[in-house]
Amino acid sequence: MPGTILDGRKLSTEIRQELTERIRVLEPRGIIPTLAGVLVGDDPGSASYVRLKEKACNEVGLRAEMQHLPADCSQEHLLRRLRDLVQRTDVHGVFVQLPLPGHIDEELVLAEVAPEKDVDGFHPQSVGCSWLGQRSFVPATPSGIMEMLKRTGHDDLRRKHAVIVNMDSLVGKPMAALLTRNDVGANVTLCNPDTPDIAGMTRQADLLVVSVNQAGFITAEMVKDGVIAIDFGSNYIDDPTAKQGYRLVGDIDFEAVKLKAEAITPVPGGAGPMTVTMLLAHTVIAAERASLSA
Ligand code: GUN
Repeated sequence: MPGTILDGRKLSTEIRQELTERIRVLEPRGIIPTLAGVLVGDDPGSASYVRLKEKACNEVGLRAEMQHLPADCSQEHLLRRLRDLVQRTDVHGVFVQLPLPGHIDEELVLAEVAPEKDVDGFHPQSVGCSWLGQRSFVPATPSGIMEMLKRTGHDDLRRKHAVIVNMDSLVGKPMAALLTRNDVGANVTLCNPDTPDIAGMTRQADLLVVSVNQAGFITAEMVKDGVIAIDFGSNYIDDPTAKQGYRLVGDIDFEAVKLKAEAITPVPGGAGPMTVTMLLAHTVIAAERASLSA
């Protein structure tokens, strides 16, 4: 029997409704959870991402304050902007859209977002705390994957083998930090797409998380029966039957792997929609925590 399809859109809608309720609870106390974002430069992909975040905030009832700085803005100017946002009590979450222009030191910038407002989980303290199992925000993609596994009952991963094909700071590393926490207890292998005998690695996976941006990278022969397969790939492939002549697919051969999997995320509509939703969730959590300490 084909595996369960993990519907990220449906889960996202459910979570967003819960967030709207939590925002209502804060309202009588004069608190409107607010997410501030800074975009530097004119990269169209980044601009569209920021618009998506702003729209999602508005739909759920958060306040969004997106600031746009020119590509040639100085590092000092950006740091000052962030310092101002972090100091404001009416701003609960702060993010800087990446990538930044080459003349700006990303490390310095990310360290400017205080951990309690670091809803992207990129501050080095947030990263360290997440590995130690201490309270911190973690990047939205792995946060969304964990939430998805929990809400669909696929979160019993103790001593199961999780194989992650991605080693970056947005997906692979924070995913490994979450899966190795004491309360989860998975055994984790982190790989690159060109790791020798990658198929030998992925075939061991009880949970497989892939984000390599290569269509069809994971074939049915590369997974074992009963795998939980999470696809965070994003690839546009030619498709003459589609209206625009192309369509979005992930990294996993969805139709073939679905037949062997216990559960699988589609692309689009799987892990992707959870990412922005978790950024909103982190902002609501930040506002709730601030309201308790006010
Ligand atoms: N650029 C690509 N993904 C992300 C993300 O999750 N957060 C930020 N701030 N920038 C990104």
